[in-house]
Amino acid sequence: MKRRDFLTLSGVAALCILTGCGGGKSNGSNSMGMGGMMGGGGSSTIPTGGIKTSSLPIPELLTPTDRGGVKHYDLTLQKAQHDFFNGIKTDTFGINSTYLGPTLLMKNGDSVSVNYTNNLGELVTMHGHGMHLPPSMDGTAHQPINDGETWSATYTVNQKACTNWYHPHTMDKTAEHVYKGLAGLIMIEDAESIALELPKRYGEDDIPLVLQDRFFNNGQLNYNPSMMQVMRGYVGDIFMANGAIDATLDVEAKEIRFRILNGSNSSIYELGFEDGRSFKQIATDNAFLEAPVSLSRLTLSPAERAEIVVDLSDAMGKTIAFKDFRHNKTFFTIDVNKTATITTSLPSTLTTLEKLNPSDAVRTRNFVLDGSMGNFQINSKSMDINRIDERVPLGDIEVWEVRNNMMVDHNFHIHATHFFLIERDGSSANVTANEKGYKDVIYIPANGSVKVIVQMKDYADNSVPYMYHCHFLEHEDAGMMGQFLVTN
Ligand code: C2O
Ligand code: CU
Ligand code: CU
Repeated sequence: MKRRDFLTLSGVAALCILTGCGGGKSNGSNSMGMGGMMGGGGSSTIPTGGIKTSSLPIPELLTPTDRGGVKHYDLTLQKAQHDFFNGIKTDTFGINSTYLGPTLLMKNGDSVSVNYTNNLGELVTMHGHGMHLPPSMDGTAHQPINDGETWSATYTVNQKACTNWYHPHTMDKTAEHVYKGLAGLIMIEDAESIALELPKRYGEDDIPLVLQDRFFNNGQLNYNPSMMQVMRGYVGDIFMANGAIDATLDVEAKEIRFRILNGSNSSIYELGFEDGRSFKQIATDNAFLEAPVSLSRLTLSPAERAEIVVDLSDAMGKTIAFKDFRHNKTFFTIDVNKTATITTSLPSTLTTLEKLNPSDAVRTRNFVLDGSMGNFQINSKSMDINRIDERVPLGDIEVWEVRNNMMVDHNFHIHATHFFLIERDGSSANVTANEKGYKDVIYIPANGSVKVIVQMKDYADNSVPYMYHCHFLEHEDAGMMGQFLVTN
């Protein structure tokens, strides 16, 4: 949908927001109310052959090739066809694959070159989300990759162990590019993560999860959000994990670690196990938590990551759905059918986080997320690639206060760094234990606000900016994004 189109529809959308007509929550029903009536992806039609059931695909773990001391990851972005359904090939984009891309395993301190070759037939850019790297290597619209070209992000890995990801950041087209299948995980390990007694057999007891939802029209991806879906979140009715619908994961009866990415365009997920069992969150976006936090539901907004460990040692013979309770949808089903070959026991201390002190902050910056007439803005400005919105001195400790002035949910992402949440809705008491970690995306429900503390380190550049934005991809593409320079 073009910005022009939703200007004319915005009156209807505003009405929908006030009256709560359909769209955001489908609660298991395929009826999406007015979303469908307004020409958007209303409900999926499943091809007659049905869903192709499979075991949960585990993205290839791409170990790099060493060329002259630099670890190279060669990624080809291509048009592809993926088997979501029987008897139908779905047109997709994939990375070394037919949908999504391999997991890049990196070690802190490595010097790496992530080489993206664009065979999509159109321009793309590729961003390392959560990576602490120089602006010229960030992969935003300032580093375009033309069709047929290769662009390399070369940098030294310079951060704690965590689960990051890579995805397109194409101006005005990020949402559509991700929807078609362009995304993959980056796993960073360090001496500490290697030494910790955690499940770490990739694909066995250390399971990567890219969670998404989609609309399909006769088996083809249908990226066609209505005005209202742009506003309230484009939540599909087919939920999937690692590019598979209704998949099954066979595991040993032991502790299992999941590295979870909310890889959706604009859906909030409330994750948990069908039988209500509790689990431990061990990591936020950019690092381990200092200690595991016990939860039975985990809320993740788009682009947020979490690592969890669930103890299934009591569950031999059981099948347990892994679900989004907000929309009452199953991502995949766990089949506990193997005896443990190795047992692990979750440590009570995971890491030490360097915390910034609010009293050391030298200034507060204010960001207001707002929109009117279908035009999404930050501080009353829509994204302009030729405008620098903020200049942030290298090394300064700052408080960023972000206010959601709308009646719809948003989140806020800052490139190339992590931050700490210090207040939610005006109070530090509202910061939950599992938010007390390194974050690069923070959920801001309708009319909510957050204060985060941030310090830009290591990489100043007086001409190439980083970005901050809402990570609801429809909002980002519609203008809810700004640019900042880290200056010295
Ligand atoms: Cu996930 Cu601007 O990025
Ligand atoms: Cu990012
Ligand atoms: Cu938003």
